[in-house]
Amino acid sequence: MARRGGYKPKDHYFQKAKAEGLRARSAFKIDEIAKRFGLLKKGQTVLDLGAAPGGFLQVILDAVGPSGTVIGVDVVPIRSLGVPNVRTLATDVLAPDFDAELCEVHGGPFDVVVSDLAPKTSGIRTTDEARSLRLAGVALDLAQRRGRVGGHFVAKLFMGGDFDAFRGVVKAAYTDFKLVRPEATRGGSMEVYVVGLSKRPPPPSS
Ligand SMILES: C[S@@+](CC[C@H](N)C(=O)[O-])C[C@H]1O[C@@H](n2cnc3c(N)ncnc32)[C@H](O)[C@@H]1O
Repeated sequence: MARRGGYKPKDHYFQKAKAEGLRARSAFKIDEIAKRFGLLKKGQTVLDLGAAPGGFLQVILDAVGPSGTVIGVDVVPIRSLGVPNVRTLATDVLAPDFDAELCEVHGGPFDVVVSDLAPKTSGIRTTDEARSLRLAGVALDLAQRRGRVGGHFVAKLFMGGDFDAFRGVVKAAYTDFKLVRPEATRGGSMEVYVVGLSKRPPPPSS
């Protein structure tokens, strides 16, 4: 049945995810981004924020292999993937003690920080943009503090609001900046993925 805005909950990518045993159709988004920029390699340590139900985690786990480590965080508990090198944390990334909680699971550094965090949408564009940017900001802050030099950053956000300022920070921190709208993104969605490639070393302290 046709729906308003052409939204089809069980579209091609939904069916493909089901057929391939992936937990979410969003898995194809990180797969496309990772392959396009060569982000993920065997043995890496990757932080995945907004990781439930685990579609991104499955793709990342496959790419980093058994010698890699993946940490998935979401306010919603993530069902076990049944392997020892995936650790999950059920918590709110906006909570004041999030940093300490994450440190208990893995203190870093991370080779790649990925965020698919998305707020519950209110339908008010400026509110949703601001909430999305706040979540992406948590990811960027972590990537800046605990991301490895030469490592990468990927974050979903709804463009608008203070996006220009956010882009400026990513451009300053990473050698290369990309803006991606993966093929699996639903038509009509406001989301884009900001990609920071190859983190720069910190500036020499004076
Ligand atoms: C689009 S879904 C992520 C899908 C996931 N990448 C996958 O492939 O299965 C966005 C997630 O962000 C999480 N989220 C939103 N706000 C959060 C917060 N403040 N702290 C932790 N997780 C949050 C939601 O619970 C939701 O699971």
